[in-house]
Amino acid sequence: MGLSVFATGNAGAVAETVAGHLDCDCGRVQEHLFPDGETLVRVNPDTVTDTVAIVAGLDRPNPRMIPLLFLAELLRQCGAAHLLLIAPYLPYMRQDRQFNPGEGISAFYFARLLSHYFDALVTVDPHLHRVHSLDELYSIPARAVAAAPSVADWIRNNVEQPLLIGPDSESAQWVEDLARRTDCPFTVLEKIRRGDRRVEVSIPDVERWSRHTPVLYDDMISTGRTMAETVGHLRQAGLRAPVCIAVHGVFADAADRILLEAGADRVVTTNTIPHATNAVDLAGPLAHATRELIARL
Ligand code: R5P
Repeated sequence: MGLSVFATGNAGAVAETVAGHLDCDCGRVQEHLFPDGETLVRVNPDTVTDTVAIVAGLDRPNPRMIPLLFLAELLRQCGAAHLLLIAPYLPYMRQDRQFNPGEGISAFYFARLLSHYFDALVTVDPHLHRVHSLDELYSIPARAVAAAPSVADWIRNNVEQPLLIGPDSESAQWVEDLARRTDCPFTVLEKIRRGDRRVEVSIPDVERWSRHTPVLYDDMISTGRTMAETVGHLRQAGLRAPVCIAVHGVFADAADRILLEAGADRVVTTNTIPHATNAVDLAGPLAHATRELIARL
């Protein structure tokens, strides 16, 4: 039973590294975009093995979904019996219930779609808040890799006297875990979202941390408003310039620049979404989880 890896979206680099860890080839995918916006995917059929892992870059998911689903169809057509999806960043996780009458519940629709095409899913720290496990959404075996051990290593090696800070209650789960792993103090702030791009963050009593380096940690930076507000308040309170760390750097609206302008010392992300801020490589843990899931297929 052979194994190969294919990449789609912007996941080429991480797919190569994952394939290296899995000791298998990374097959080439050609995506041709016609003038009318339609896509044709091509692979060399001789490179398709019995088990295939597609590594998919799924930030900005809408235009990337059709090429991904067509690639899945094509690989099955070429003989892949087992198809795994490695989506280092899993989108559509935040609309996990109906907040207003008539709204769609995107997290469920998206999960149903992927569960139809793939036999298993590997991702990194999906945004689980009201839904507590991927199994509540996905009908296929799904594995969530934790970024925390790798992020903790990065903090230990790069930050002097860290104070870990979660910008809102939803980040508490990530920050508490990270604090345990790094043996650092931590605090979680309160956030009030006033609109898509307006966020207010409560100011904690932080004077006693003046000698520490604040490390803001969240599962994702999207518009950057949540972290930027927090950075501003921490700077006003006289704390050092914080390091902003997110597992997933979605960076809508050039959010990395917004954070630096707000007074952050540095912005750091993992390589679940390729970006200049990537400093933590998760290809090893992704490959490890993939191997474990393959053994169960
Ligand atoms: C919220 O539930 C998430 O954990 C992040 O705090 C949020 O998505 C960040 O969004 P933004 O960067 O747009 O403030």
